[in-house]
Amino acid sequence: MKLFSSVNDVPDVNALVKEALHLKENPYAYKDLGENKTMALVFLNPSLRTRMSTQKAALNMGMNVMVLNMDKEGWALELRDNVIMNGTTVEHIREATAVMGQYADIIGVRSFPGLKDRDEDYSEMIFNKFVQFCGVPVVSLESATRHPLQSLADLITIEELKTRSRPKVVLTWAPHIKPLPQAVPNSFAEWMCKADVEFTIAQPAGYELCADFTKGATITNNQDEALADADFIYVKNWSAYEPYGQVTLVNEDWMLTNERLKITNEAKVMHCLPVRRDLELSSEILDGPASIVVHEAANRVWAAQAVLKRMLEGLS
Ligand code: CP
Repeated sequence: MKLFSSVNDVPDVNALVKEALHLKENPYAYKDLGENKTMALVFLNPSLRTRMSTQKAALNMGMNVMVLNMDKEGWALELRDNVIMNGTTVEHIREATAVMGQYADIIGVRSFPGLKDRDEDYSEMIFNKFVQFCGVPVVSLESATRHPLQSLADLITIEELKTRSRPKVVLTWAPHIKPLPQAVPNSFAEWMCKADVEFTIAQPAGYELCADFTKGATITNNQDEALADADFIYVKNWSAYEPYGQVTLVNEDWMLTNERLKITNEAKVMHCLPVRRDLELSSEILDGPASIVVHEAANRVWAAQAVLKRMLEGLS
C-alpha cells in the first residue's frame, strides 16, 4: 500500500479490520518490519488522538517517529503554483514536501478544509500535493474531506462490539456552535456503505452530505425514526455542504439523551472526539454505560498499525 486516503485505497476492508484486531492481540509481533524506517507526522492543524495513536502505532512497528507541527513550527507554506512569493509565505509546498520525503519512509499529513471554497477543499489540494511531491507513501491523518484512520477505527470498534451479524448503524447530526468540516461524517459514511451493516444517516434538512459519500445509505430528517432499533449511534456535527460551510438554524433539539436511547436496541454511542459536552452529546450518555468513545479512541492505534504494516510490507 502506497496511499491511505480513503476506503477506496483498501482492496479488502474486512481483511484490514481482521489485521487490526490481530495486531491488537500481538502489538509487537512485526517490530522488525519498521526497523531503521522513519515515520514523519506532519500537522497543519491540531490533534490529540491522531497524533498519539499514530505515533504509538509506528513505535509498535519498530519505526522512528518525527512530528512536525507545521502550522506552529514550520515555515509559512505557499500552496499555489505560478505566483511570485513576495507576500507572507516563505516556502513552497513543492520543495517542503520533497524535502520531507528525503527524511521519512512514510509521511502522515493532517490538513483541514478552509470551509470557504468548496471546490478547493474537495479537490484536496494540500493532501494531493504531499502525495505528488514527497516521493514516499502517504497516510491521511484527516484531510479536507475524509478521515480514514478514524473510520477504520470506527469499523474495528463496531466489528468487536456488535451483538448481531448485520448491526444497524446510525450516523446522526448533532448541534455545535461553529462550522465544522464534513470529513468525519463523509468518511464514516463511505466506510459504512462498504461494510456489512444496515446504515442510516439522520440530519436536519439542509445538512445533506455530498452524495458521493452516501450511496447505499438510508437518509432521513427524522432522528427518532433513524434511532429505532439501532445497535450503534455515531454522533457528529458537520456544517452544510450546500450552502458550503454554513451553519443554518435548526429548530428541533438534536442532542442525544438517555431518553432517546430507549427506542434503540441498547445502542452503543460513538463519537470521534473531541466532543463538546451537553452541546453535541449529553454528559449522561458520555458518563454512562452506552458510551464507547474511549474504546473507539483506543482502537485508533490498531487502525494506524494495520495501515503502517501494509505500507512497510510494500517498502521491503
Ligand atoms: N478524532 C480525532 O481525529 O481526534 P484528534 O483531532 O484529536 O486527532
